[in-house]
Amino acid sequence: MPGVLPEGETVPADGSLPATALHAVGSRGFGVYVHVPFCASRCGYCDFNTYTAAELGGGADRESYADTVLAELALAARVLGDAPPPRVDTVFVGGGTPTLLPADDLARILDGIDRTWGLAADAEVTTEANPESVTPGSLRALRAAGYTRVSLGMQSAAPGVLAVLDRRHSAGRAVAAAGEARDAGFDHVNLDLIYGTPGESAADFAASLAQVVAAGVDHVSAYALIVEDGTRLAARMRRGELPYPSDDVAADRYLAAEATLDAAGFSWYEVSNWSRGEAARCRHNLLYWTGADWWGLGPGAHSHVGGVRWWNVKHPTAYAKRLAAGESPGLAREILTAGEAHTEDVMLRLRLASGLPLAALDPAGAAGARRALADGLLEPARYAAGRAVLTLRGRLLADAVVRDLLP
Ligand SMILES: C[S@@+](CC[C@H](N)C(=O)[O-])C[C@H]1O[C@@H](n2cnc3c(N)ncnc32)[C@H](O)[C@@H]1O
Ligand code: SF4
Repeated sequence: MPGVLPEGETVPADGSLPATALHAVGSRGFGVYVHVPFCASRCGYCDFNTYTAAELGGGADRESYADTVLAELALAARVLGDAPPPRVDTVFVGGGTPTLLPADDLARILDGIDRTWGLAADAEVTTEANPESVTPGSLRALRAAGYTRVSLGMQSAAPGVLAVLDRRHSAGRAVAAAGEARDAGFDHVNLDLIYGTPGESAADFAASLAQVVAAGVDHVSAYALIVEDGTRLAARMRRGELPYPSDDVAADRYLAAEATLDAAGFSWYEVSNWSRGEAARCRHNLLYWTGADWWGLGPGAHSHVGGVRWWNVKHPTAYAKRLAAGESPGLAREILTAGEAHTEDVMLRLRLASGLPLAALDPAGAAGARRALADGLLEPARYAAGRAVLTLRGRLLADAVVRDLLP
């Protein structure tokens, strides 16, 4: 959840939604995101909505956070009241560092979601975790509470790269934590990598990939380092202390990721995500990418129900105050026009290995798809079968292809 929120119209104080948005809630898939805005320290590259204890000051503390989230959940239950989603298909607790909260608090939040709407029998329940913030005991407690998946931020196996990124854990700790998660009974474990960090060599990244493969996890996310405005990393680059990332290096790293992960039995299902088999895909993220409904609990969290998208006030203190006053923490919302919904759908679906139906494109988009095909950016066999699916070269240029498929 990036730090900057867009603008939009005001959310009513009771958080109510237009009747059109509530129509058929639950029939499109329903997920719950829980944002936990706490970190032990801030990594130099990160602009997510998260705070250290020193940054928070008074008014919002970790101890009362689970109760504050449960208060928003009660409000959400009232808002969706007459049209309750039949089941929660996925829950994703992200951050920040969710595992800075005691496992008991994460268990209480999950229990609250289950009591409110009911978890589907096969619900996917993920928590993000920093490698140094989990133990075998905390992972066993999370598994026992009903969590089914853990996503660990590994970023790199190279000590020098971890230092540039200001990570707190040692090289090797992420892989050890992944092993502890599997021993605790988690079948689904993800490791996040960042590539293209200044100073990272091809050999460093190859070592990161080799460790991920050896860790026995069933999911890998790999993102090119983004230099976000306002971060310490961006300031260091502006001062000339570190070079800016190079697009050519990022492309080489992406090709290395695809080659190594493919050879190890992973397949890409979204441009930055690989899994060992379909059952290991992150269903919660797929729900975002395919236009389903979700409620985002927590400061700065975004929600989407029936074409209405809204986002909460950003600061944990303001968030807690709104809920204590019995008001929605929603800051602003927008009701997507058909054109905006189409643009989002094309942007998100084109990044998926399943692609998008060519029939969904307007005449200008269809002409763009023909050009992309001629340029080797779309798979010919899939195109012949009526779908736009990126080739490997197309995945490197996904943003440019998207632009060509939109009016
Ligand atoms: C916001 S973090 C939350 C997880 C956890 N706090 C951690 O750091 O391990 C989720 C993931 O986003 C990715 N990420 C965050 N900022 C990024 C950036 N500027 N560039 C690329 N990836 C980034 C990292 O891979 C990270 O693991
Ligand atoms: S631990 Fe994760 S969320 Fe926290 S600052 Fe670092 S990358 Fe951002």
